[in-house]
Amino acid sequence: MAPTQQKALLIPERLADFVVGTRAVPSPGPGFVLVKIQAVSLNPVDNYLQKLGKFTPEFSDLTPGYPAVVGSDGAGIVEAVGEGVTHLEVGDRVLYQFRWSSDRSTFQQYGLADAARIAKIPGNVSFDGAATIPLGLATAAIGNYAKKSLRGGAALHRPWEDGGRGQYSSQAILVTGGSSSVGQFALQLAKLSGFGPIITTASAHNEAYCKAAGATHVVDYHSVPYAELPVVLARIAGGPIAFVYDVISSAESQAAGWASLAPGGSIVVTLPSAIGQPGVDAEDGRRIVWVSGNVHHRDNHELGQSLYSKLTELLAEGALKPNRVEVLPDGLAGIPPGLGRVLAKQVSGVKLVAHPQETL
Ligand SMILES: NC(=O)c1ccc[n+]([C@@H]2O[C@H](COP(=O)([O-])OP(=O)(O)OC[C@H]3O[C@@H](n4cnc5c(N)ncnc54)[C@H](OP(=O)(O)O)[C@@H]3O)[C@@H](O)[C@H]2O)c1
Repeated sequence: MAPTQQKALLIPERLADFVVGTRAVPSPGPGFVLVKIQAVSLNPVDNYLQKLGKFTPEFSDLTPGYPAVVGSDGAGIVEAVGEGVTHLEVGDRVLYQFRWSSDRSTFQQYGLADAARIAKIPGNVSFDGAATIPLGLATAAIGNYAKKSLRGGAALHRPWEDGGRGQYSSQAILVTGGSSSVGQFALQLAKLSGFGPIITTASAHNEAYCKAAGATHVVDYHSVPYAELPVVLARIAGGPIAFVYDVISSAESQAAGWASLAPGGSIVVTLPSAIGQPGVDAEDGRRIVWVSGNVHHRDNHELGQSLYSKLTELLAEGALKPNRVEVLPDGLAGIPPGLGRVLAKQVSGVKLVAHPQETL
């Protein structure tokens, strides 16, 4: 039986600092489950929501207003099941992604999850590992594998669907930021798709981490600036590249990706485009895709359901692996200092994870 009150990391009012407080434990309506959250991971978007005050009614479609809770990624144990949910039971270990609402965010001890896009965690994956997956994987998958549209993706064959593996053998792909959370999943999916060479950018000390995820070539962006990357890429790939996933999406990395792209090719950007209008083909057929990495956005429901229906299997098989983890101390109170490190770009080749149940 879930308690009626819980500890949560609250934003008391717009632009206010985070504070640990209490709020009611929500109860699951039809199609939802209540999750006792064991592990959460920290993402750049959490800072965005708090520092820019973007957690406003237009973003928050279920429980608008303050005090607000954010947090994108959760892993935990099903505590209660709403009407109509037949494939999950109390006690199941699950991972899930938030949607813009306090009840569905994860920086708290209990939260609601949409049972349509949720995955059971297999025995070989810990709660910590599972919590690193939802946003990073969704962003990587939607960018390259959703159907073409402004909020869609590059429409590649999906390697998690029947017959989808190895469809792009002998084709080159560039994934910038291979040691980032999104980059790790983009590399793993590129490997499942059969791409080769798989070229990425990262600091030299993260080369092995990127290669373990599927990169065949790791270019150190500290010694090869992005302005020089197209020449290096052409040398490795033997010509222009048909697919670029620009996780970093700085002005420099977008320019380098665009310059390296073959006619008819696509570049996925995770931040606003600096190279043209997303969704509109250039004269030579090159296309920019801006990704919105949430499986609960209505445009992403179809891909999200497809991916989540196979996720347990992919993890059990080891075809997809979580990010490397650093666990923060002090439960929910450890999150604000962790988000400070994310904001200051002091996190390298690791995902920060916190344990809400360890909050004092
Ligand atoms: N549009 C969306 O829906 C969406 C969703 C999720 C994320 N994003 C955005 O995607 C980006 C990545 O997010 P994340 O959570 O994956 O980030 P993250 O894991 O926090 O990124 C940290 C990593 O970035 C790498 N990095 C930093 N600057 C780099 C550069 N110039 N070239 C190559 N690598 C660089 C670092 O690599 P080294 O330590 O090896 O140098 C570090 O390992 C962020 O800008 C985020 O806001 C967008």
